[in-house]
Amino acid sequence: METLGVPARFVATDVTRRADADALVDAAGEFGGVDVMVCNAGITLGADGADVAEADYRRLMAVNLDGVLFGAQAAARQMKDRATPGSIVLMASMGGLVGAGFTVAYSTSKGGVILMAKSLADALGPDGIRVNAVCPGTIDTHLLRSTPDIAQAADGFRQRTPLRRLGQPSEIGDAVAYLGSELSGYVTGEPRSSSTAA
Ligand SMILES: NC(=O)c1ccc[n+]([C@@H]2O[C@H](COP(=O)([O-])OP(=O)(O)OC[C@H]3O[C@@H](n4cnc5c(N)ncnc54)[C@H](O)[C@@H]3O)[C@@H](O)[C@H]2O)c1
Repeated sequence: METLGVPARFVATDVTRRADADALVDAAGEFGGVDVMVCNAGITLGADGADVAEADYRRLMAVNLDGVLFGAQAAARQMKDRATPGSIVLMASMGGLVGAGFTVAYSTSKGGVILMAKSLADALGPDGIRVNAVCPGTIDTHLLRSTPDIAQAADGFRQRTPLRRLGQPSEIGDAVAYLGSELSGYVTGEPRSSSTAA
């Protein structure tokens, strides 16, 4: 970022710890506060079938669900205090829309993230805070290459993808930039298949 001429600060954060999420958001005060929060951290498991081990399941949920909620809560608190509109983007997955037998815990967590986005959008909308989830397909990253079951399935995913290629990280960055900007000023609670209103 510094090479782009944009001031930046690294804050070591374990998203599974609520206090870390709060400290991260506090640190943004140096730059005037958080306008856009992207809850991106997520993990997969080496063995994630129907018999997923309890310790692995809890470790994954701590990052993929607790961590996303803690980050969104910390950002929302500061956005409310500043009384400025804000955008929170949660990183879900196609895996949260379509389950798979080798990603039982992962798909469960990402399905939860999608409903977290819808629920937070409804809760925070009156404060002018938008919350959306992004559901990437198969993106060529460390996560893909380091998870053998997913790496093995990647070619099948590619063939079933309309563009017949894997996505690049920057292409997900573009979607996040859109959701963080005023170009999406009337977009919240996505992906949406029905109303969130009770
Ligand atoms: N690569 C894909 O095909 C794909 C598809 C759909 C969704 N996603 C999601 O995109 C997000 C980014 O994944 P990626 O593919 O870039 O993988 P990645 O492994 O390259 O990045 C994941 C990041 O999460 C961080 N992280 C893990 N545990 C953490 C913790 N406790 N506290 C703070 N940070 C932690 C890691 O340090 C890493 O930088 C994840 O939420 C992932 O589930 C990826």
